[in-house]
Formats: sequence, structure tokens, C-alpha cells
Amino acid sequence: MPRVSLGHFPTPLEGLPRLARHLGIARLLVKRDDQTGLAGGGNKTRKLEFLVADALAQGADTLVTAGAAQSNHCRQTAAAAARLGLGCVLVLGGAPPTELPTGNLLLDTLLGAELRWSGPYRRGELLHQVVEELRAVGRRPYLIPYGGSNALGAAGYAHAMPELAEQCGGSGPLAAIDRIVIASSSGATQAGLVVGAHMVAYPGQILGIAIDKDEPPDRPYAEHLATLAEQTAALLGVARTFTPQDFTVTREYVGAGYGVVGELEREAIRLTARLEGLLLDPVYTGRAMGGLIDLIHRRVIGPKETVLFWHTGGMPALFAYAQALV
Ligand SMILES: Cc1ncc(COP(=O)(O)O)c(C=O)c1O
Repeated sequence: MPRVSLGHFPTPLEGLPRLARHLGIARLLVKRDDQTGLAGGGNKTRKLEFLVADALAQGADTLVTAGAAQSNHCRQTAAAAARLGLGCVLVLGGAPPTELPTGNLLLDTLLGAELRWSGPYRRGELLHQVVEELRAVGRRPYLIPYGGSNALGAAGYAHAMPELAEQCGGSGPLAAIDRIVIASSSGATQAGLVVGAHMVAYPGQILGIAIDKDEPPDRPYAEHLATLAEQTAALLGVARTFTPQDFTVTREYVGAGYGVVGELEREAIRLTARLEGLLLDPVYTGRAMGGLIDLIHRRVIGPKETVLFWHTGGMPALFAYAQALV
């Protein structure tokens, strides 16, 4: 499949021995997709390698996508556009900041993205409208859906499982990992990993910690994941059907909703920073690690397990959440 190289792969696979000891679990690993290397890194780099290749194949001159004001996806899209000499229009939820931009928003600005503000809409509701406006003035926009979550984006994560298997020394050693834990939101990360898990015959669980309080408006999240996985498998020529039962997602840790930092995230971020020197983010990985810690405390995840925490990035947002974190 056409792919543009944007990141540093394979990302490191490391142990978190001090955190594992503290939590009372046999082995904790971390897959460092926060180190993908594109303007601060993160999971969207894997998706963008395929999405941007498609944009170039279609002769686009501008990438258009959407997200929250502190979207990591938007920041990495802006970086990919800059790298390839494309324009970038970001449709961001909320209103322009009244003070200096910080975190991802500051980086979007430095990366040269054009910003449009969409008030209550942060999930791409206005994307088609913006694309039409750009076409009307002669530009050639390429629409990247919210979170980069379509089959092309998920293909990036399907490829991440063979990468992990190779790092582990093959499918056999990979099977020693009982569970993979990830933050799950627009879905292509989890859907892609599940397709990739089939490709390398990974028998363990891929547990998505949902970040958003509500299920998607149109259908249950697991159905959305199954559809994405089906489309991804078709794209990659993987002969397998997927159903909602193939996906494990918990919505136990959504707290007060998207982007609202509570004690769960604060404690997980502090603990991981102080025991491992590893920085999580306030919206996604802080919440996912908080969920993982709680599941270990409650013995839903047993003390003899080997767990891999897939770090999906987001560190720049820490600076925008300073008030909630200190
Ligand atoms: C840091 C981080 N982790 C996880 C996710 C969730 O990935 P997905 O939207 O593919 O479910 C995102 C999405 O924006 C993210 O920025």
C-alpha cells in the first residue's frame, strides 16, 4: 500500500519495572508510540503515513481535519503537511484563545496550520462544509476524518502488530503478553491493532480504555470498531470478518467526560512520571493508565500477568492542563 515515511519505526519497547513492582504485577511493558518522532510524536503518525500517501496520490494541496483545541491528531497532521509542503486547515472545537496559545495549539500555529473555530463541534461535524469552502476558492483539499479514523488510518495500526511481534522475537514470545492496554477514542488505533493481532495470531486481549463519556451518536462504539476493522481487513487483503464481540472496551474511566482531568488521571500521571521518568498526557494516556492501575488494584488484572501499555503520545497537552495537574 502507498505509504509516506513520516515517523521513526520501530518505536521502542521498554520495561516499566519500578511501576510494575509498585503495583504488584509481574511485568509491565510500554510501547513508545509517543516517540514516533513527528513534531512531538504520537499514535497519529502511523495513521498519517497511509492517509497522506492517499492525499498525494489524489493530487491534494491541503490537508483538512478536525479535533479539540488540544488535539494531538491535528498537531501531527499539521506537521505532516509542513513536511510535505502541503497546506493544512484545522477545524478546532471551541473558540480562539483569549490568552497566548499553549500546548498543541501553540505547536499548530508554529507548524503553520490555518485554524477555523467550530464552537461546540470538535468531532469533525463541519469538515465537509470547510472542504466545500476550500474547493470553491480553487484549493484541492483532502479530508482526513476526525482522529484519522478510517480504514487507511487503521491500516497504520494493523502494521504495528507485526512490528511488535518482531521486537518480541516472533509470535511465540508475543503470546507471553497477556493484555495490551490502549486509550481508545475515534477507534482506528484499536481497530487496527485488532486486525494486526489477527495477522500475527496474537492470542491475548487488546483492552481499550474509552476516553469519551458517550457512545458515538449513530451506533455503539464496538459496532463502529467492527466496521472499521472489516474495512481495514478488506483493504489489506486479510481474510477475516470482525464483529463487535471481537472488541473489549471499558467505559468505566471516563470520569466527568472528554478532556476533564480528575484524580484518576492526576495520580496516574504523577506515579508514572515519578517511578519511571515517563510522561503521559492528561486526556488519553493519563486516563488509560489510571484505568490500568485501577484494574490491577481490583485484581481484574492478576498479579502474574504481563501487560503492555501502548503509549499513544499526547505529551504537549500537559502544558495546557497545568492548572489541573499541580
Ligand atoms: C494521545 C492519544 N492517545 C489515544 C488516542 C485515541 O486514538 P483513536 O482516536 O485512534 O482511538 C488519541 C486520539 O486522538 C490520542 O491523541
